[in-house]
Amino acid sequence: MGIAVSPSIHSAAASFISKRGQILINNKWQDAASGKTFQTFNPATGEVLATLAEGDKEDINRAVAAARKAFDTGAWRKMTASERGRIIWKFADLLEQHTEEFATLEALDNGKPISVARVADVPLAVDLLRYMAGWTTKIEGNTIPISVPYAPGAKFLAYTQKEPVGVVGQIIPWNFPLLMAAWKLGPALAAGCCIVLKPAEQTPLSALRLGELAIEAGLPEGVLNIVTGFGETAGAPLAAHPDVDKVAFTGSTEVGKLILQAAAGNLKKVTLELGGKSPNVVYADSDLGKAIPGAASAIFFNQGQCCCAGSRLFVEKSVFDKVVDGVAEHASKIKVGPGLDPDTQMGPLVSDEQFSRVCSYLESGRTEGAKAVVGGKRKGDKGYFVEPTVLVNTKPNMKVVQEEIFGPVVTAIPFDDPSDLISQANDTMYGLAAGIWTKDISKAHRTADQLKAGTVWINCYNIFDAAMPFGGYKQSGWGREMGHDAVDLYTEKKAVCTML
Ligand code: NAI
Ligand code: MG
Repeated sequence: MGIAVSPSIHSAAASFISKRGQILINNKWQDAASGKTFQTFNPATGEVLATLAEGDKEDINRAVAAARKAFDTGAWRKMTASERGRIIWKFADLLEQHTEEFATLEALDNGKPISVARVADVPLAVDLLRYMAGWTTKIEGNTIPISVPYAPGAKFLAYTQKEPVGVVGQIIPWNFPLLMAAWKLGPALAAGCCIVLKPAEQTPLSALRLGELAIEAGLPEGVLNIVTGFGETAGAPLAAHPDVDKVAFTGSTEVGKLILQAAAGNLKKVTLELGGKSPNVVYADSDLGKAIPGAASAIFFNQGQCCCAGSRLFVEKSVFDKVVDGVAEHASKIKVGPGLDPDTQMGPLVSDEQFSRVCSYLESGRTEGAKAVVGGKRKGDKGYFVEPTVLVNTKPNMKVVQEEIFGPVVTAIPFDDPSDLISQANDTMYGLAAGIWTKDISKAHRTADQLKAGTVWINCYNIFDAAMPFGGYKQSGWGREMGHDAVDLYTEKKAVCTML
């Protein structure tokens, strides 16, 4: 039951939260097979926000069976690509029509500023669905001129076709609950797959509301099933399920490795979008009027809970103090508050667990000798707020430099030798993203070429688009989200060869 929701909030969001969240299987909402429930919390207050069905292995089994039936014999596979595209487009329209409701759900459940959810999370999710709706009619194969040396004189027609990979399990995190759902659902639906989605236990609300809209948009039964619950009891059986053809995961690198092991049972396909410790490089010849606010927003956006956060800020020595002071000044001016407050620029961290994790990194930085130029501790005494923090005096082997903090904490590191910069910037197990700030275009592209990262932003940061692939090198993951690469990763390619 919904609790602690002020009457002034968007009424549709309030009434949605006040219902008990259920599991979606075969377009029917239902309690968990076990009857168990769990609660989510408002990160701005720590108070209970909503009660939800706690799905486990049995619910996953039922959801996978529904998806399997829909894939093997249901209406979805019989539809034309154009019909499938129109349903996804309608899904996007419905989401757009409910922008304010979704922005409210995200602000309450995740804690993020409603002003940001309104202009970023929801519109990006809408745009992603529209982009993917367009792909349904463009998933093409090739004709191939084959030569076959042992069949002299024979003629063949050889072609490929791309088919949906089948039943897919999708496990998503809590940092962009709606957007991560859209990134996963869009390409899978475009390819014609059937889905079991497991939202993060901290932030399941927007995914459930999305489930309602998917039915309204006309998705046939069994195409999208949503099981709420915990990682170990709902996520793990989904990743291990023998009747799931692919699992797509976004979250920690640690759990990514568990997913991979679980997938080994039936060798299901795997895509992973994992952690990061992204370098953001400011050269002395950059436009500091842009680089300084850019570096601040690279780390502080979404409370630092971004897999691609610019968390290691490398600054050329001659401008180091100026850039650090500038970023610290930005940090000190950020208005930290509850996500629903229209003036809030930074909300609380998502959960008690994440709050403790980030605070323990701040403690570790202090003990190992790093210095906080600004921030460095909890903000207030209620909710999961942490001060935007800039750390200096770090050493390359410190935990705060090596590990993903996933909070509003940046380590600023001076450099003077460009080749030393590249080896330091690449000295991480991750390879998700990187930023470069300079007016010298040759230097910018030379640096971009040398950085081991799936995305490199030059004179900008955190620019996302449905058409631009996003994903990691090294331990930041396998495969790509968005763009046509994402659609490809939900298909199998069949070669057909005919002797004429
Ligand atoms: P997590 O990786 O445990 O959770 C992400 C999702 O995986 C959730 O839906 C969770 O229920 C599920 N999950 C957890 N254990 C599972 C298992 N054994 N099998 C299948 N599914 C499982 O991430 P967590 O604990 O919330 O955050 C820990 C750290 O992970 C963060 O501090 C951050 O460093 C990183 N992270 C990275 C994200 C990214 O966008 N790449 C997003 C969230 C967290
Ligand atoms: Mg975890």
